[in-house]
Amino acid sequence: MTTYSATRYDFRDKAAGYAQLQQELAALLAGEHDVVANAANTAALLFEALPQVNWAGFYFLKDGELVVGPFQGKPACVRIALGRGVCGTCAAERRTLVVPDVHAFPGHIACDTASRAEIVVPLIHQGELLGVLDVDSPVAARFDAGDGAGLESLARTFLASLAAAGASTR
Ligand code: SME
Repeated sequence: MTTYSATRYDFRDKAAGYAQLQQELAALLAGEHDVVANAANTAALLFEALPQVNWAGFYFLKDGELVVGPFQGKPACVRIALGRGVCGTCAAERRTLVVPDVHAFPGHIACDTASRAEIVVPLIHQGELLGVLDVDSPVAARFDAGDGAGLESLARTFLASLAAAGASTR
């Protein structure tokens, strides 16, 4: 039975907020291993729970490029080459990128013109790059290192939910 409490966290204590959200995500994904199903529910939970967010979702690595996966928000750019934009740079460098002002990021790809800040976390599954988790905000400097640590823990929870042999997005 899937549980979802529809909690809106205030994130005044970021670490505590993300810790609660991580437990809710773990409960939501418990017992399910399907990549698309779990990515869809992860995106929906993040979009509902995180304040000041206008896009939350996944890009998965397919045949050497990122392809949009389950998300919440406005329709997005479908394919992103490694090294391009915030998502492609995150994937190429395999590190979390916190961008306070997307207009100042060289090569930023604007999907929703309302987006001002962005955070992207790489998804590394058993040593392989599976894709990235991307969250956008209309508020400049919305994300900081605390959000980076929090979203990385949520990404680990998502990755842990995937069955060892079944983590294919094809
Ligand atoms: N802004 C991203 C593209 C994806 S959208 O924000 C959903 C980028 O520069 O990679």
